[in-house]
Amino acid sequence: MDPITRLGVVGCGLMGSGIAEVAARSGIDVRIAEATPDTAEAGRRRITDSLDRAARRGKLSEEHRDQARARLSFTHDLSDMADRQFVIEAVAENRDIKTDVLRVLDKAVADPTAILATNTSSIPVVDLAVATERPGQVIGMHFFNPVPVQRLVEVIPALTTSQETVQRTRDFAGQLSKQPIQAADRSGFVVNALLVPYLLSAVRMVESGSARPDDIDQGMELGCAHPMGPLRLLDLIGLDTAQAIAESMYDEYKEPLYAPPALLRRMVAAGHLGRKSGRGFYTYDA
Ligand code: CAA
Repeated sequence: MDPITRLGVVGCGLMGSGIAEVAARSGIDVRIAEATPDTAEAGRRRITDSLDRAARRGKLSEEHRDQARARLSFTHDLSDMADRQFVIEAVAENRDIKTDVLRVLDKAVADPTAILATNTSSIPVVDLAVATERPGQVIGMHFFNPVPVQRLVEVIPALTTSQETVQRTRDFAGQLSKQPIQAADRSGFVVNALLVPYLLSAVRMVESGSARPDDIDQGMELGCAHPMGPLRLLDLIGLDTAQAIAESMYDEYKEPLYAPPALLRRMVAAGHLGRKSGRGFYTYDA
């Protein structure tokens, strides 16, 4: 199969902007859809800042940075995805929103063999696949935050996904210099099935007063050589995203282990979402 040269990314939040950046740096033309001019501008700024940082750190020449930037275009209209060979949706972790996006993309993308991938971390891929008329070409492609740094991509075929789609998606991950692993379409796949109970346990530890956030994080950073402790990591992921993932996993398994603790829910209700809102378990400069 020929490499992908025209990618669509729907949603330019933390994950979408990272995916778009990595693809543009890999020489791919990337069209990004965002709902409003303000969110598109915020997404563009996030990518530009990240490219500038990579250039400053000597990971990217100024020429390559400018070329990557020139490969990015923005739209508010999903019908502009008509000529794309591969589209990844990275909108909010909400089943109804993702289903709507997949349904609209299915109509918008002209080539019936083009692949529609979802960056969900916990919603059944098959539910999204059957909302389209191309269930054989719908697949999960789950990236990790920060996308430019983490090398892993989970590839999740639904029961309906064709073997050719799986192979093209694995090849595409390679084109982005990512390492794919494959997992069954079960909420949480491999990484979140292991990671989320650990993160929620750390929240319960804070909730019960067993230890303070900084002591818990230092425990895992200095004792187990994790690059960041669980509460710092929750702040990076976003507490609202973590809550949504935990809810989907609880919905699937009914295991108390996956139930979002009350403290997490209250922090989300208060708007303490982590780095992106300036406050979570820690506070951050704007
Ligand atoms: N974009 C691009 N590059 C970044 C970056 C970003 N947002 N953040 C950090 N980096 C790069 C830096 O440029 C730096 O690169 P060099 O060493 O080559 O110069 C390198 O990463 C290290 O960065 P820093 O020195 O600034 O900071 P650090 O050493 O503390 O690393 C970190 C920051 C990469 C985030 C590291 O702490 C880490 O890997 N943390 C764990 C992250 C993790 O577990 N992610 C998975 C989350 S789960 C998920 O995403 C799935 C889900 O569904 C919830």
